Amino acid sequence: MGKKIFSGVQPTGNLHLGNYLGAIKNFVDLNNEPANECVFCVVDLHAITVNQDPQELRNNIRETVATFIACGINPEKSIIFNQSAVPAHSEAAWLLSCVARMGWLNRMTQFKEKAGKDKEKASIGLYSYPILMAADILLYDTTHVPVGQDQKQHLELCRDIAQKFNNDYGVDDFLKIPEPLIQKQFSRIMSLKDGTKKMSKSELSDLSRINLTDDKDLIVNKIKKAKTDPLPLPSNTDELMKRPEARNLLEIYSSLKNSSLDNSVGEFKGKKFSDFKDKLTQLLVEKINPITLEIKKLVNDKGFLDKILLEGHKKANNIASKKIKKMQEIIGF
Ligand code: AMP
Ligand code: TRP
Repeated sequence: MGKKIFSGVQPTGNLHLGNYLGAIKNFVDLNNEPANECVFCVVDLHAITVNQDPQELRNNIRETVATFIACGINPEKSIIFNQSAVPAHSEAAWLLSCVARMGWLNRMTQFKEKAGKDKEKASIGLYSYPILMAADILLYDTTHVPVGQDQKQHLELCRDIAQKFNNDYGVDDFLKIPEPLIQKQFSRIMSLKDGTKKMSKSELSDLSRINLTDDKDLIVNKIKKAKTDPLPLPSNTDELMKRPEARNLLEIYSSLKNSSLDNSVGEFKGKKFSDFKDKLTQLLVEKINPITLEIKKLVNDKGFLDKILLEGHKKANNIASKKIKKMQEIIGF
């Protein structure tokens, strides 16, 4: 039996190598399996949990669609749409926020990280963000959710919310309990400037990440400046535990090459970082540059991107509006 896949990406600009290797590459593989039904959502409602400039947001929504397609997602074989276009997402988020418990949300580490020291000043949306994410997933009877490692806790919360809704209303199996699909390896790509920090859109220094819109020269420069340590490359993977930067670069290499970390360590053991970096740069340019060129071409074709969003949102609305109607009936409206 095929899987029902749902995943979301925020249209906040700067989609990077971590998004690609941790999530979007996996979307493409799942989309290529004919039996799967895939829904890929540009989660613009999630984006506004922090300030967004309206014009930039509009551009970023289209750029995210362009990135999906440039990475290999087939719009004919999947539903691609933006979250705000389907009202059931906001409605379901409210209904589920009456099921979710404060204590559950208080444990979410992403909120703690994003809110920083001054939690009083964080938006309520940033706090209840994982409930909206649960709504996204549950409206589509999703069986599998491909995400990077950082979303694991949100997925567990989604499962708890679904279970509690089913229990509270005595509707066994109404909300389907989804499985996370997190790659066993390379599901957390780290910053090029600090191997202990996640590669992130919001990191101030652009040198910390490879954006999917970076041209060849930028890739060359960023890998040249990527942090390393003074030793030659290690001869076994155990040694990498204490060398986060070396580990991250070798993981990026392995993931791009669809090879194991062991193989990559074997290929470069005892070599100088400069030799390894040359090979890594070559591979990055080979794999990422075609995507970059395609994104740049597609973002100029607003008509094409808007058509994909329009068709996607009609299909998504058709599914989600039926589910929310049943939810309302169950609740007693
Ligand atoms: P976001 O950009 O936060 O909407 O994330 C989109 C997807 O990319 C999610 O599935 C994340 O888990 C994944 N992701 C984001 N950053 C990384 C990273 N540094 N390594 C691996 N996956 C990531
Ligand atoms: N919270 C996810 C992130 O920041 C994005 C997201 C929103 C999502 N809704 C989703 C991912 C539903 C998977 C399924 O990366």
